[in-house]
Amino acid sequence: MKDRLQEIKSKALAQIETAEGLETLNEVRDAILGKKGELTAVLRGMKDVAPEDRPLVGQWVNEARDAIEAKMADKLKLLESQALKLRYETEKIDVTMPEVTRKKGNLHPVTQVRNQLIDIFASMGFEVVETKEIENDYYNFTALNTPADHPARDMQDTFYLSEDFLLATQTSAAQIHTMEKKNPPIKMVAAPGRVFRSDDDATHSPMFHQMEGLVVDKGITLCDLKGMLDELVKKLFGKDTTTRLRPSYFPFTEPSVEVDVSCFQCKGAGCKLCKGTGWIEVLGAGVVNNKVLEGCGVDTKEYSGFAFGVGLERIAMLKYGINNIKMLFESDVRVLSQIDDEM
Ligand code: PHE
Repeated sequence: MKDRLQEIKSKALAQIETAEGLETLNEVRDAILGKKGELTAVLRGMKDVAPEDRPLVGQWVNEARDAIEAKMADKLKLLESQALKLRYETEKIDVTMPEVTRKKGNLHPVTQVRNQLIDIFASMGFEVVETKEIENDYYNFTALNTPADHPARDMQDTFYLSEDFLLATQTSAAQIHTMEKKNPPIKMVAAPGRVFRSDDDATHSPMFHQMEGLVVDKGITLCDLKGMLDELVKKLFGKDTTTRLRPSYFPFTEPSVEVDVSCFQCKGAGCKLCKGTGWIEVLGAGVVNNKVLEGCGVDTKEYSGFAFGVGLERIAMLKYGINNIKMLFESDVRVLSQIDDEM
């Protein structure tokens, strides 16, 4: 009996020693100590041992089991620490490895300018409305004090889709749409306005974007326009930028002005950007012509307003130093990805 137990014990210890993983260790445990295990079988056979021999045999069995269990526990600890070491090694982060960079995409410069303008106008309390790309003659011209025989129509020749419908030449129709829907006070910007004109050179494109603005309230004058514009250019081009108004002509505003901003590159000293003048023309504006207000049923004894129209491509070209408007429409990512100016 003693030999049998010795044999079981040394076989078990050897198997535990060479076990390479938890699974083998469990198999060894089942084969020795499990229900059908070899040592369990010996224990079951105790009933056949003579009563006087039982204490001694019982002691041998216990010794064998304790030795096997102790060896098993040691091996378990060893395997666990090996597994942990392996995990530390495989999960190690090499902080000296070159990073994997993926450049974040950016919005189109014109969209960026549009968003910046919307943010600025929204902060001043303007509501944002949408414009139409197809207008009829009434909204695009007639209601804007530009009747059929008006020479100002020549400057804004466009594609006519029918006798009456045309591709919008300006976003100013939004003034009429807004006043038809709403009574004063009105404070709105219209965007994004895609407009179409027979115009094509380095700074003009047959399709471009405008943003229209309209304010109608009691006591609105050119001073309100100037104050708002000064605020706008400071936010858009920098704190020490100002504006200058030059007399101009639009049928739907009286008086009408061209708005120049002080050159934000040379601060007025004169450079290539401002063609040596210290000023850059950025938009058209004016006090809304009474004829336009009256045409929309606004009482001009009580209300007055100002309006402006700004070209988004022009602002983008100035802000980002783009010298040909076509660059904005050629969709060359090498150019467009350089302009990332999200506020
Ligand atoms: N619609 C004019 C243009 O396209 C700009 C403008 C808008 C001027 C509003 C005055 C008032 O040139």
